Amino acid sequence: MCGIVGILGNIEVAPRLTDALKRLEYRGYDSAGIATLENGKLARSRAEGKLRNLEARIASHPVGGAAGIGHTRWATHGGPSVINAHPHMAGRVAVVHNGIIENYLELRAEVTANGAVITSETDTEVVAHLVNALLDKGLSPVDAVEVVLPRLHGAFALAFLFEGEEDLLIGARKGSPLAVGHGEGEMFLGSDAIALSPFTDRVTYLDEGDWAVLTRSGVTIRDSNNAVVSRPEAKSSVTAALMDKGNYRHFMAKEIHEQPEVLGHTLSRYIDLGNSRVKVPGAEAVDFSKLNRIIISACGTAYLAGLVAKYWFEKYARLPVEIDIASEFRYRETPVANGEFALFISQSGETADTLASLRYCKENGATIGAVVNVPESTIARESDVVFQTIAGPEIGVASTKAFTCQLAVLASLALHAGRQRGVLSEAQEKDLVAALGSIPGLAVQALKCETSIEALALPLSRVSDALYLGRGTNFPLALEGALKLKELSYIHAEGYAAGELKHGPIALIDENMPVFVIAPHDSIYEKTVSNMQEVAARGGRIVLITDQKGADASGNAAQNTVILPNVPEIAAPIIYALPIQMIAYHTAVFMGTDVDQPRNLAKSVTVE
Ligand code: F6R
Repeated sequence: MCGIVGILGNIEVAPRLTDALKRLEYRGYDSAGIATLENGKLARSRAEGKLRNLEARIASHPVGGAAGIGHTRWATHGGPSVINAHPHMAGRVAVVHNGIIENYLELRAEVTANGAVITSETDTEVVAHLVNALLDKGLSPVDAVEVVLPRLHGAFALAFLFEGEEDLLIGARKGSPLAVGHGEGEMFLGSDAIALSPFTDRVTYLDEGDWAVLTRSGVTIRDSNNAVVSRPEAKSSVTAALMDKGNYRHFMAKEIHEQPEVLGHTLSRYIDLGNSRVKVPGAEAVDFSKLNRIIISACGTAYLAGLVAKYWFEKYARLPVEIDIASEFRYRETPVANGEFALFISQSGETADTLASLRYCKENGATIGAVVNVPESTIARESDVVFQTIAGPEIGVASTKAFTCQLAVLASLALHAGRQRGVLSEAQEKDLVAALGSIPGLAVQALKCETSIEALALPLSRVSDALYLGRGTNFPLALEGALKLKELSYIHAEGYAAGELKHGPIALIDENMPVFVIAPHDSIYEKTVSNMQEVAARGGRIVLITDQKGADASGNAAQNTVILPNVPEIAAPIIYALPIQMIAYHTAVFMGTDVDQPRNLAKSVTVE
C-alpha cells in the first residue's frame, strides 16, 4: 500500500526522501513522487513505475531544498500514471495520502464549483484544493488543516508541505498509520518505523484521529477534538541493517532462510523447553476453560495460519473455532457474545479488513487477542492481549517467515488452551512441547531440499495451472501453496482438500496438470495417497511432498518426490510450509517475475 515520508531537515532532502521511499517499496506501489521546498517554493518530481524512474527524473530535473514529502502510490482511484502520482498540489499546498477519501466526489464537486481545476483522477487532489482555498482566505496552514480534516470521510494518513513555510510539516492519521520521527534539530514523518530507520530510532506513533504539527524543534500533537495531547516516544528496534538483503538475491530468499532462527526466537517466547511446558505471556487474560468457541479472523496467508490453528484448537483443546476471512466476517453480522474470545492474525497489524473485524468483535464485548509481527501496529494497540511473532521485519511482499511464526504462536496457544481445559495431560504437553522445540532444527534440515525443489521450477514455469492437495492441517497448506505460486509466478493454482477432489476438480486433471500432494506419513497419510492414486490414474503429474516413510509407501504414482525429515504431527504444517515457499520462489525466479514485489500486490493492505 501507499507509503508516506516527510522530512524537515538541514541537508539536501531529495536523496533522503528517495532513500526512505526505498524502505517503503516492500509495501507495494506503482508510482512515486516527492515535493520539496526549493527557496521557499514548492518543487515536485513524480514518475510512474519503480523508484529508479523517479531517481532518473530527479537526476535530470533536480529538486532542491531541505524540507519535503515523498510517496509511493498503490493505485486505488485512478490508474498508475504520472498525473495520478503523489504529491498532489494546489496553489501553496502539496499533499501525500495513504488510504481512501470516501466522500471525494462530493468534495470535488464543491472545489470545482469554486473554480479549482482538477488535474488527476485521484481522491487525494481535492484535499490540496480544500486546504489551499482556506489559505487563500487568509487562514494559516495549521488552521486550514484543522478545518479540512473533519470534512474528510474514510481511512487515511496525510502529510502536508506548504509554500513559504520552511519549518513546517503537518501529518494526520485517521485509519492509516503514521509515525513521527525525532532527530537532532530535524523532524520526520513516516508510514512506519521502517521508513524512518535511516534517520532515527526515536519514534512517536500517532493515535487514531491524531494530527501533528512538526517544526525542526519538535512536534505538537492534537487529537480528533483538537486538544493538545502527549504521545509516548518509543525506541524503534528496526535498524537499517535489518532491512538489508545480505548475500541473498531477494528478500524473500533471505526470509525463507531466516526461518530456523526466527522460529527459535518465537518459540522461546512461548514454550519453556526446560520444564516441558507451554508458557504464553498474556494468556492469563483469557480463561479458555470457560469458552465455548474461539473466533478467528484474518486475511490471505494469515487467514490460512488461522485455518491450521482451527485444527489444533479443536484437536488439542477440544475448543470449536469459528473462522472466516476478515473481508467477509466484518459484514456478516455474525453473533458475537459478551465475554467471547476473538483472535486476529496479521503480520503488518494494519490490514483494514482484519482491523474492522476486530473492532466489530470489540464492540460486541469480546476479549480481543492478536497474533501480530509489528508490535506498534494498530491491531496490536487495539487488542487486549498481543501474542507477538518474533519474525523481524518481513520485506518480501509474499509472507513466509511471518506465516510460520504465526503457526508457532498458534500451536503454543492451542496447547495452552488444551492444558487449561484439562484436555491435555502433563505427559502429553511434555511430548508436544518437545515436538515444538524440535522445529528450528527440523527447519534447517527441510531447507536442504532446496536443490531438489529448484529442479522442479523449470518444468513448472512452463505450465499455466497447478493443483495443491492436502488433508487435515495439510489442506490449509495446500491453499497456501497455491496462493504463493499464484502471487509470485502468476501461474493459476488452486488448493483443495484431497478428499474433495472427486467432487469436481478431478475434471481438471490431465497429463499437463502438475499436482502437488502434501502428505507427511501421518495418521491420514493412507487417505491422501488414495486420492493421489486417483490423480495418477488420470495422468496427472504428481509431485509428492512427504518424508522417507511416506516416499517408501507411496508406490510409483509420483513423478517427483520431495523428501523432508520425519516430523512430529504438530510440527508438520510449519516444516512443510518451507518447500511450499521454495517451490513458488524458484518458479518465480525462473520466470523472471518481480519476486519481492509481485505485480498488483501490496504488503500492508490498509484499504478494504
Ligand atoms: C500472501 C500475503 C498476504 C497477507 C495478507 C494479510 O503471501 O502475504 O495474503 O497474508 O495480505 O496481511 P497481514 O498479515 O499483514 O494482515
